[in-house]
Formats: sequence, structure tokens, C-alpha cells
Amino acid sequence: KRVAVIYGGWSSEREVSISSGTQMLRAAEAAGYDAVGIDAGRNLAAQLTEAKPDVVLNGLHGPWGEDGCVQGLLEIMDVPYSHSGVLASALAMDKLKSKAVYRSAGLPVAEDKQVTRAEAAAAHALDPPYVIKPVNEGSSFGVLIVREGTNGPPQDLLDESWHYGDYLMAEEFIPGRELTVAVLGDRPLAVTEITTLRDYYDFDAKYSAGGSRHVIPADVPEHITAMAMDFAVRAHQVLGCRGATRSDFRYDDKRDRLVILETNTQPGMTPTSLVPEQAAFAGMSFEELVAWMIEDASC
Ligand code: DAL
Ligand code: MG
Repeated sequence: KRVAVIYGGWSSEREVSISSGTQMLRAAEAAGYDAVGIDAGRNLAAQLTEAKPDVVLNGLHGPWGEDGCVQGLLEIMDVPYSHSGVLASALAMDKLKSKAVYRSAGLPVAEDKQVTRAEAAAAHALDPPYVIKPVNEGSSFGVLIVREGTNGPPQDLLDESWHYGDYLMAEEFIPGRELTVAVLGDRPLAVTEITTLRDYYDFDAKYSAGGSRHVIPADVPEHITAMAMDFAVRAHQVLGCRGATRSDFRYDDKRDRLVILETNTQPGMTPTSLVPEQAAFAGMSFEELVAWMIEDASC
């Protein structure tokens, strides 16, 4: 099979995607596929027409690669591709819309409110502590935590250097622990707890070697493990996802409360990423994981 691994792109997560894509390309070759890497630019359609792949292995993260746009292009070109389709990708990329879908399915979520930059900087959108998140970003880009006792709403939002747009979510801050569950098809792999010495699981914690510690399986009560796995599968299903996803959770152990934050339809495949680690825990090598993604592709 001829496989084109698309990666790079032009979202904030470009560098992360180059790391994911490079690893996926190597693994596809090692698994015996005739694989080529394509740095996805605005000429992606022309690049694909020339490469003539049987399957596209999507290694993109963030807007255009994860939000249904590239998926739509591949549908039109009639090339089978890995991971989720157009609607599931678009829904999952939008943190407000995906939470509305979770609520409709009875999945527990943190309180939230849609705000613009100006609104969020003018007055507290929720009672502190809360988090401001761009609705359509990944890898913690643009995430601000407003702690209890801070003087006023976050003024960083008004900086000229702010480039995460005006479509923001204020979300109740859930104290406690960070959990994540990968789903392959309809199979949850494991629950990982992520601990970090940094303020939270931010960009550096995610991608610097030693930036965070992953405990797998997470040392949490059995009913929390079962609930996190069940919620991850239900989130995957209710959003209409395909292939691999990874759902992220907060667990407030003092109040025994578990909430789902989001489902990532293009989860990271970098050397520090969580899905490959859970696959390994479940007995699946990186190469086998990538081969599974390629064989699962459709359109
Ligand atoms: N957005 C990053 C790549 C992740 O979810 O793993
Ligand atoms: Mg994400």
C-alpha cells in the first residue's frame, strides 16, 4: 500500500505535528508500507495528486488538520484517510460544541461560558478559579489559569502578541488530577495520570523530556478507572469519531468528581505522547499502532 503521511501544516501546533509525523513516517516504513511524507501546505491537493497514495495517514494537529478541513478535502479527492471524519473532527476541535454534545449524552463536564477577549479582560467571566481557553487550539496554546485571589481578569488577553483569536471559553477550574484515556475504535486502552512540577500540564510539560511524569495505569480508585474508560468510549461514540482518539479528564479526588475536558481526534504521536505509551502498555508497539491506523482508514 502506498501511504502518504501528512504533517506540519500551519497551525500553532506545526512543530508538534512535525514530530508526530516524522515518527509515524518511520514506523509506516518499518511496517513495510511504501510511505512518503508530505508537509501539508495550501498546495496539499496538488501534492496528493502527484503522490497518488492509497491511504493518507493524518499526522496533523490543530486548525485545518484536525477540524474537518483536511478531512473534507480528502473526501472530495476520494482518498481514504486515518482518524475521524469531517463532522466528528469539527465538533471535537470546538471545545464549546463538543461539551454541548457531551452534556446531551449525560457526560459530566465543568461549567463554562463563551467569551470574547474584550469581555474576558473586562470582568471575571466566572468566579475564580477558572481557566480561559481558546476554543479551537491544542497543546495548551493560549490557556490562562485565573487563580483564586487574583486582582482582576486576565489582561494578557489584550496583548498585541495574542494570536489565538476571539472565540474563547471560560471554564470552571477543577482542582485535583489530570487523567487521559486513549480509544482505538471502540476499545479503551488504559488510564494514565499525568503529574508535573509545573503549574499545570502546559506546553513544556507536554513536550520536554522530563516535563511530566506519566503513571500508567493511574493510581486512582477502581470506579474512577472504570468511569474514565467508559466516558472516553462514550465521548468517542457520541461525537462520531473513528480510529484513535484521546479524551482528557480532571479528577477532583477530594470530591470524587470526574469531568471530561475534551476529546482529541488527532492525538499526539511524539516521543513524549500518551497514546503510543498506552498502546505499548496494552501490548501494541508503535509500529503496530501506526499499521492499525493505516488499515482503519476510510472515507
Ligand atoms: N493536541 C495534541 C497534539 C494532543 O492532543 O496530543
Ligand atoms: Mg486538545
